[in-house]
Amino acid sequence: MRPVVRAAGRRGAGTVALVGAGPGDPGLMTVRGLELLRRAHVVVYDRLVDPRLLDAAPRARRIFAGKASDHHTLPQERINALLIMHARRGRRVVRLKGGDPFVFGRGGEEADALARAGIPFEVVPGVSSAVAVPAYAGIPLTHRGVASSFAVVTGHEEACKRESSVDWSRLARAVDTLVVLMGVKSLPRIARELIEHGRPAATPVALVRWGTTNVQETITGTLGDIAALAARARLEPPVVIVIGEVVALRDRLHWFDDNRVPMEVAQ
Ligand SMILES: C[S@@+](CC[C@H](N)C(=O)[O-])C[C@H]1O[C@@H](n2cnc3c(N)ncnc32)[C@H](O)[C@@H]1O
Repeated sequence: MRPVVRAAGRRGAGTVALVGAGPGDPGLMTVRGLELLRRAHVVVYDRLVDPRLLDAAPRARRIFAGKASDHHTLPQERINALLIMHARRGRRVVRLKGGDPFVFGRGGEEADALARAGIPFEVVPGVSSAVAVPAYAGIPLTHRGVASSFAVVTGHEEACKRESSVDWSRLARAVDTLVVLMGVKSLPRIARELIEHGRPAATPVALVRWGTTNVQETITGTLGDIAALAARARLEPPVVIVIGEVVALRDRLHWFDDNRVPMEVAQ
């Protein structure tokens, strides 16, 4: 049963839905997200969104908002202004974002801009790459007797430069499993910091690139050698880094690598 309260807005007024598209496999899109896509007049989407999802909105105007790690096709302010402008013209706008909109997706900033502008909006959570990509690599983030906590952090250079944003010295031993998004470029520094602050160099690490898609690839190693392995493989984003003893479970639990079946989006 769906909740009664929805961001319906005034009659005739436009609305914006911040929708999580999931991590790549279009089959991981939520039912609510798909429903909103089908009814959308305008879809503003990011780089990591699978283009097949846009087929669910054949009549909608599609606007690519870009966003690679170092390069923003549209600045955030322009994206906010675009959402507001289309909603003010009475349109149903879907802002389609990779993974979950509120996990390193700047969805909070977009929601804030909409709230300030008085635009009715709703947030449709998505399956975050932070949990889905390890799952598709056969790595449970928690496992009885192995790991009872995990943290998701950004490895983005800019965020890490600001001392307050990621405290690697505390994180090193505070949680069992660490999941790092946007961390490929900072991997040598992250591994060094974790070892310096007490995480054994033998701790297993997995790097999962384009997880949940049919080009998913995984490199495994340890904190001590993973940076060299990544450099040798010339690994590029998008990558989810998983650090912790749970990574070893992949040897038995990997299920997707050999059985990739591209998902179809239900029309
Ligand atoms: C700007 S963050 C957005 C995260 C997103 N909101 C989420 O919940 O998954 C982008 C980062 O997410 C990770 N990522 C997203 N999709 C991925 C995928 N299919 N495979 C590996 N990493 C992915 C990468 O670390 C990438 O650099």
